[in-house]
Amino acid sequence: MSNNPYYKQHWIDIEPERHEAYDQILAFHPAMEPLLKPLELAPGLRVLDVGSGPGHTAMELARRVAPSGKVTGVDINADFVERSNRRAREAGVPAEFVRSGFPPLNFPDRSFDRVFCKNVLEYVDSAADTVAEMARVAGAGAVVVATDSDWDMMALETGAGTADLNERVLGAAKSIALKEPKIGRRLYGLFREAGLTDVKVEVMAAADTLGRSTPMLKASFARYARDSGRVMEQEVAQWLANINRAIERGTFLLVLPQFIVRGVKR
Ligand SMILES: C[S@@+](CC[C@H](N)C(=O)[O-])C[C@H]1O[C@@H](n2cnc3c(N)ncnc32)[C@H](O)[C@@H]1O
Repeated sequence: MSNNPYYKQHWIDIEPERHEAYDQILAFHPAMEPLLKPLELAPGLRVLDVGSGPGHTAMELARRVAPSGKVTGVDINADFVERSNRRAREAGVPAEFVRSGFPPLNFPDRSFDRVFCKNVLEYVDSAADTVAEMARVAGAGAVVVATDSDWDMMALETGAGTADLNERVLGAAKSIALKEPKIGRRLYGLFREAGLTDVKVEVMAAADTLGRSTPMLKASFARYARDSGRVMEQEVAQWLANINRAIERGTFLLVLPQFIVRGVKR
């Protein structure tokens, strides 16, 4: 039996169905280009991907620094690391993945030209310590980018009379699965406190009206809500039914702002 809090343990233990869902949810898509742009990637750069997950984004970064550069991915989940290493070998891209929890980051000071972290910092014991570590391992002049949602700014609209249930289910899920639900809005201050300079913030907030984000709601949030024990199974089932009905009627809307914060190490 582990003593880890749920927000950490649910990443250490990922069952096969959830791996399949993450391959879909965390696939690289051209719409993610604004998240990578501030990294100013070029061949030859050494990049660290902090919390690399299934590795799809890290592979995309590796293609952009190939052939002379390299991406190192680090993640707490052993299967993610093994699968990512296999994929990188098969695709012949310069990426290597290591298993480790953080903070701290087990790399020497100033060992990377770019440090990237996407949708990870809400799950760590200390987002402040992790950002400080990202700044420590960045070399002089290196660009550091963190990009994350702000879960307390999520707008989910599924029709008249459904708002209370949305709040209950999402609240239950967030209460156990996210250490820091407001991470998006906190990134700017954390970058400043870590001594990064020239810190810039952008926010991307596309409206999903087609239900593209439902794999994330179903695979992650419905499961978190059930595991929280704060809502009944029937409530989660009703929540999912409300979402499906809104999509069928063409009235579904979800907006989840994604903050993109970049700073420079001096
Ligand atoms: C939502 S996924 C994002 C994965 C990847 N950055 C992406 O966007 O495709 C969060 C990742 O953070 C990793 N993670 C969460 N807490 C961690 C910790 N304390 N140490 C290391 N990795 C962690 C998880 O294993 C998971 O792969």
